Amino acid sequence: ATGQLSDRLGRPLTDLRISVTDRCNFRCSYCMPKEVFDKDYQYLPHAALLSFEEITRLARLFAAHGVRKIRLTGGEPLLRKNIEALIEQLAALRTVDGLPLDLTLTTNGSLLARKARALKAAGLQRVTVSLDGLDDAVFRGMNDVDFPVADVLHGIEAARDVGLGPIKINMVVKRGTNDQEILPMARHFRAHYGGTAILRFIEYMDVGATNGWRMDEVLPSAEVVRRIGAELPLVPLEASAPGETAQRWAYADGGGEIGVISSVTQAFCHDCSRARLSTEGRLYLCLFANQGHDLRPLLRDGASDADILSRIGQVWQGRSDRYSELRALRGPDTASATAPRRVEMSYIGG
Ligand code: GTP
Ligand code: 5AD
Ligand code: SF4
Ligand code: SF4
Repeated sequence: ATGQLSDRLGRPLTDLRISVTDRCNFRCSYCMPKEVFDKDYQYLPHAALLSFEEITRLARLFAAHGVRKIRLTGGEPLLRKNIEALIEQLAALRTVDGLPLDLTLTTNGSLLARKARALKAAGLQRVTVSLDGLDDAVFRGMNDVDFPVADVLHGIEAARDVGLGPIKINMVVKRGTNDQEILPMARHFRAHYGGTAILRFIEYMDVGATNGWRMDEVLPSAEVVRRIGAELPLVPLEASAPGETAQRWAYADGGGEIGVISSVTQAFCHDCSRARLSTEGRLYLCLFANQGHDLRPLLRDGASDADILSRIGQVWQGRSDRYSELRALRGPDTASATAPRRVEMSYIGG
């Protein structure tokens, strides 16, 4: 065990998000717009992907550096063949304190009804499901592949029924596109999940280089809280963990909680403890980074655990990324046409 690392701004490394595929069966316009991710788009060839053994080895070394939480992302992670086998391997790992890693996954829910039981059996602890609206027409428009909302709702129920909870439901809000769904979503998850699902509203972000982000399509979280609170009174809650992305609010009548993730209007870089591993093994220090640190050659050229540990340590100790805070300082309306091309979120993982 090597213990806790600290970056140049004093932030520990406690959270690793691993992208297991760059593919997705949805085409959400804020993430994989159809015009870019069309039938000619070049996804990574199979040989480029880290194998399950390579991922598990890296995860074990990150855990030795203090990582306590692992999230599998994508693309859509449930599209990766036999993902249950990877989960089994990761579930066997331990943190520096000998505790199991907090092991979770972010999914669009489309395959969850079919897979929830196997995921739970493999050792997954909980899931986060992306859901951008309850109205079928709005949802079909958001996913842009005409996928029905009922199938995702069944997936969420299946996840609850097998014990993959508390389930987090993430809704990206685009003003003028799905903001009318905020209240229906709040009412639905309050009424049907009383405390077992936590709905979070995410400000639409300027990630990647393809989504055509504009500030006037961002609905500030303060407005989300105001709209919900006007009908269902809310009281603020303390953060449950340092470095958490969401600000938490409880329904005043005890009907559960919601969260808002305000990376545009209230950046939370100051205690960001998240590293991201791309599908092909590049380590990214920020969601908005334009370059990663390639770990795959170490894995494939016979580097020792000690070599890889020291490389990871060196990279984290050099980290000073704080993109969202700097964007806020520049003024929020400057999603920088001039900045270097940022990595796509489907590649690096949400
Ligand atoms: P937990 O709340 O920890 O269980 O994880 P979760 O994935 O359900 O939520 P998390 O808060 O980690 O991520 C939800 C969403 O918040 C992501 O899909 C992103 O849109 C956004 N997000 C997560 N991490 C970051 C980050 O480091 N920077 C920024 N700007 N946004 C982030
Ligand atoms: N803004 C905010 N969140 C995004 N996600 C993807 N693209 C964006 C964006 N432009 C997040 C959403 C989704 C997850 C897979 O990635 O939270 O639920
Ligand atoms: Fe797929 Fe999630 Fe991106 Fe939508 S946000 S395209 S579901 S990876
Ligand atoms: Fe962390 Fe970068 Fe997001 Fe800031 S913008 S919270 S540094 S990932």
